Amino acid sequence: MSASTVVRQETPAPKFTHALSRTQRLVSARMESALVGDDTLLAAMRYAITGGKMLRGFLVLESARLHEVSDEVALDAALAIECMHAYSLVHDDLPCMDDDDLRRGLPTLHRKWDEAMAVLAGDALQTLSFELLANPKFGDNTLTLIRMLAQASGKDGMVSGQMLDIAAETSPQPLTLEQIILLQRRKTGCLISWSATAGAVIANADTEPLRHYAEALGLAFQIADDILDVEGDAEKVGKRVRKDAEAGKATFVSVLGLDAAKTRAQQLCNQACAALDIYGDRGETLREAARFVISRDS
Ligand code: IPE
Ligand code: IPE
Ligand code: MG
Ligand code: MG
Ligand code: MG
Repeated sequence: MSASTVVRQETPAPKFTHALSRTQRLVSARMESALVGDDTLLAAMRYAITGGKMLRGFLVLESARLHEVSDEVALDAALAIECMHAYSLVHDDLPCMDDDDLRRGLPTLHRKWDEAMAVLAGDALQTLSFELLANPKFGDNTLTLIRMLAQASGKDGMVSGQMLDIAAETSPQPLTLEQIILLQRRKTGCLISWSATAGAVIANADTEPLRHYAEALGLAFQIADDILDVEGDAEKVGKRVRKDAEAGKATFVSVLGLDAAKTRAQQLCNQACAALDIYGDRGETLREAARFVISRDS
């Protein structure tokens, strides 16, 4: 186990590993068919979507599977959230935001092309998310999926979290734990919650258990990201590390310290798993995903 590992993972996660590679295969193939063409904007959009873990797409397909919704039906929702997430990263890396040069082991989009291309590819990825959801396959739930994604992404969700994150860099006082939790819920948690509940929405089923799972998972995910920034290896993580403290970011690690942040991540993982009790064994792939989230090295 490498020193960069966030929390020790003693057990393998065969179901999750299999489902994640399947997601990567399916979403990548669907992305190729949705973005055919050789103009630069399309090339930049494909570049932005490629190479990530596709954890959010996995959550969509897995929450769908849990409710007997086929991959065929759920796939456009999985691609939609990966487009939204990719857009958030492309903009997050811009010089006016986190000013990063490396993403997923490759130059960030504005480094590969330029800032205008990064802004525009991000914009087009965001609108593509909604285009993918405006799909007869989702029947009566189409508008719910669209409204929930708009809420998760915008002024009450991801963009608001990004705003709080940037504002915290120059805040005269360090943020309190409560303020950091709010920031991280919005910045990272909202898109993860949308992903984990999408399958239940499509199936007209109760979203509450998955919402509880995702709330804990989203925070655990961001704590792991913050810990990786401190302990991770840039080669494996695929992005620059040891940048949060330098930039004055408010993170779980900055307020709790490393050890307490790790303990908190483990508690949140346990909470996420407990929220799946109602699904019995059928929830095992999602439990494995929660354990992966806190033990990942990339
Ligand atoms: C990174 O997300 C950004 C955060 C929200 C912390 P991921 O770690 O899911 O990034 P990719 O998609 O796998 O590259
Ligand atoms: C990014 O958070 C969150 C969003 C893009 C919404 P970070 O700034 O911590 O992500 P990394 O570390 O650059 O991937
Ligand atoms: Mg950021
Ligand atoms: Mg960043
Ligand atoms: Mg980070």
